[in-house]
Formats: sequence, C-alpha cells, structure tokens
Amino acid sequence: MRVCSIVGARPQFIKAAVVSRELRAVGEEVLVHTGQHYDEEMSDVFFDELGIPEPDFNLGVKSDTHGRQTAKMIAEIEPVVEETEPDVILLYGDTNSTLAGAIVGSKCDVVVAHVEAGLRSHNREMPEEINRVLTDHASDLRFAPSEQAVDALATEGITEGVYWTGDVMYDSILEVRERVADRSDVLDDLGLEAGEFILSTVHRQHNTDARANLESILDALSDAPLPVVFPAHPRTIDRLEEYGLRERAEEALEIIEPLGYLDFVRLLDTAERIATDSGGVQKEAFFLETPCVTMREETEWTETVDAGWNELVGADADAIREALRGDRTPEETPEPYGDGKASRRIADILQRHVDTAESELAV
Ligand code: UD1
Ligand code: UDP
Repeated sequence: MRVCSIVGARPQFIKAAVVSRELRAVGEEVLVHTGQHYDEEMSDVFFDELGIPEPDFNLGVKSDTHGRQTAKMIAEIEPVVEETEPDVILLYGDTNSTLAGAIVGSKCDVVVAHVEAGLRSHNREMPEEINRVLTDHASDLRFAPSEQAVDALATEGITEGVYWTGDVMYDSILEVRERVADRSDVLDDLGLEAGEFILSTVHRQHNTDARANLESILDALSDAPLPVVFPAHPRTIDRLEEYGLRERAEEALEIIEPLGYLDFVRLLDTAERIATDSGGVQKEAFFLETPCVTMREETEWTETVDAGWNELVGADADAIREALRGDRTPEETPEPYGDGKASRRIADILQRHVDTAESELAV
C-alpha cells in the first residue's frame, strides 16, 4: 500500500504525526507538505518535536488569497500524484491544503480518504466549512471522529465509506500528556504558576479580519481575572499591527511566539481556563479537562459544549468577560471521541481497502 499524505498547516502536522507512524508500520507513505504554513514555529518545530519524517515533497506554496493559494496547491500536487502513483490520498481536517488534495485526488481517480470527516459548524461563511463539505463529498473513505459526525454525513446522504474511528488528536494527547509534565519547562520559562493563568489563542478569519471583533476580544481579555498568556498566530500579529492595536495588546497580554506542541500542551493542561477560537484547542482543553471559553458563535466540536466543558460566547466583550469569571467545572467527562486508537484503525482500514481493491483486480 502506498499512501500520499497531504499536510500544510500546524494542526495537520500534529494529526499526521500519529497516523504516519501507523501507516509506515503497514505500508509506504509519501509525505507532501504544501507549504501553507512555513515559519519555523508554525511548521519545522512540529516535525522536530514529534519525529515526523522529512516531507518527500515541499511544494512551497506559502500565503496568498484563498483562490490563488488553493489553485497553486492543486497545480503542484497533481504532478506529485502522477509521479508517485499512490493507492490513496490521505487528507486531514479542513484547510485549503485539504481541499486542494481532495480535488487532485478525485480528478486523478485516486482513492481519497479524509480524517476528521463529518464535522460541521453549519456556518457557510467560514472558509473551513466549505473545505470540509467539499472534501467529504469528494472522498471515498471518511474517518469520522464521533457518532455525531457519522450522523452529519448521513444527513447529507453520505452513508457509504464512512468509518467511526475516533479522533486522532485524542491519540496524540494521550501520548504526550504525561511526557510533557517532565519534558516541558514552559511554566518556569514564562514565570507561571499552574492554575494561575489563562491561555488564549485567536486566529479565525472572522475574529482577526474584522477590526471590531479583534478589538472586542482584546478588551475582554484585558479585563481577565488572571494574567493571559497569548501565543500569537502570525495572522493575528499582522492584524493587530494593521489596526494599530499591537502596543495595547502587548501591555494587556503576555504575547509570545507560537509554541511547540509539547510546551503548548503543558500550558493547556495547567491553565485555569482557555479562551480560544481554535478548533483543535477546544478539543484538547476538553481532553485535558480544562474549562474552555470559545470565542465563536458556533462550533463543529459540539460534544465539548454538550458535556459542559466548553462555552460558546462569540466575540462579544461582555459575554467573554462573564465567561472568564464564571464558575464551571463539570463533574464528568464523556468520551465521544473514541478510545485513543483512531490512528491504528485508520491505517488498518486503508490497508484492507487497498488489499480488497487489488484482489478484485486480480480476479
Ligand atoms: C489556516 C487554516 C485554518 C486553520 C489554521 C491553523 C485555511 C482556509 N485556514 O488558517 O483552518 O485553523 O491554518 O493554524 O486553510 N502566516 C505567516 N506564516 C506562516 C503561516 C501564515 O506569517 O507560516 C500568516 C500570513 O500572513 C498569512 C496568514 O498568516 O496570510 C494566514 O495564513 P493561512 O495559512 O492562509 O491561514 P490561517 O489563518 O493560518
Ligand atoms: N498549537 C501549538 N502551539 C501554539 C498554538 C497551538 O502547538 O502556539 C497546537 C494545538 O495544541 C493544536 C493545534 O496547534 O493541536 C491547533 O492549531 P490551530 O489552533 O492553529 O488550528 P485549528 O485547530 O483551529 O485548525
């Protein structure tokens, strides 16, 4: 079996790290980095820390408008697929790199498989929602992290090639959680006490590209009851500068460079609470039982809200302020995202699929 995995953005490196290991135990992997994220702290750090093999191809696409970035990726991925002739193209999540891979796979008549299938925010203004829907519909194999994701696909008429595998980020967190307590010095480095700070990240287009939303979030975080550590996505730094808000943000928040995964997980695990608009961070907060305030109107990880660990507050300053002071620690944490063995399951399903296709061809 030869699998061509396509990654390009920070969360995809983290997801691919655990799956790649399982894939390479049973077959061959061609790893393609589109270059969507390219700063050292947005890309290389994850390859180094998580032992992800060097990409076989780095397409160097970098930042651009949605259309041009996706188009460049399509143009660059196609010859790689023609050259390497994979049995499967494996895609992760909902970025432009995901969509580009789905389009190439379906045009080149290669089996397309999607990790994190069936997630829906039902907000069509979110670029990621369009990427998810199109990728799921172009895929042959869909790996759903939860039962709700399976149901969402069924609602759209997709019932074939759907596998409830559990969530690969849960695999990843289980693997590193204990390790980071010994290996990360981030609390000392930043002068933080466990339980005495709030960890915040913001990078969603809706929150960064509308000045009013970013300013409202900044206002609320400035009034937080504890110091706020803010590993800033480069997009957010660019916007703070453009809006003339950077100095104010630096006075109010502990703005730092994006962190590596191990240090970031250590902060997630020890923060009093999280304030974020990230998809992955909401889920990791849930796995680590750290209360989360999500600065979005909706989420595709609804199980975390249903369980009481996550609260949706949008970008409204008063709602964020209130949520940051609220008392909320649910007694139980359900396990809607599987058993920590999603990656192994995905590799097994891919192998079975390829073996079956080959034996049918041989008949
Ligand atoms: C992308 C994904 C988003 C995901 C996020 C993870 C899409 C549409 N969006 O959003 O779903 O949650 O990655 O972090 O695919 N930049 C740098 N250096 C980098 C990368 C980006 O400076 O290494 C800056 C550039 O100014 C760029 C901006 O960040 O224009 C946005 O980057 P881009 O990859 O387009 O979108 P993200 O906001 O990172
Ligand atoms: N992350 C990290 N360092 C940071 C911020 C986030 O390692 O400074 C990790 C985080 O643990 C999660 C992933 O990056 O696994 C989430 O990425 P991001 O928020 O950029 O994207 P999203 O999940 O919203 O697509």
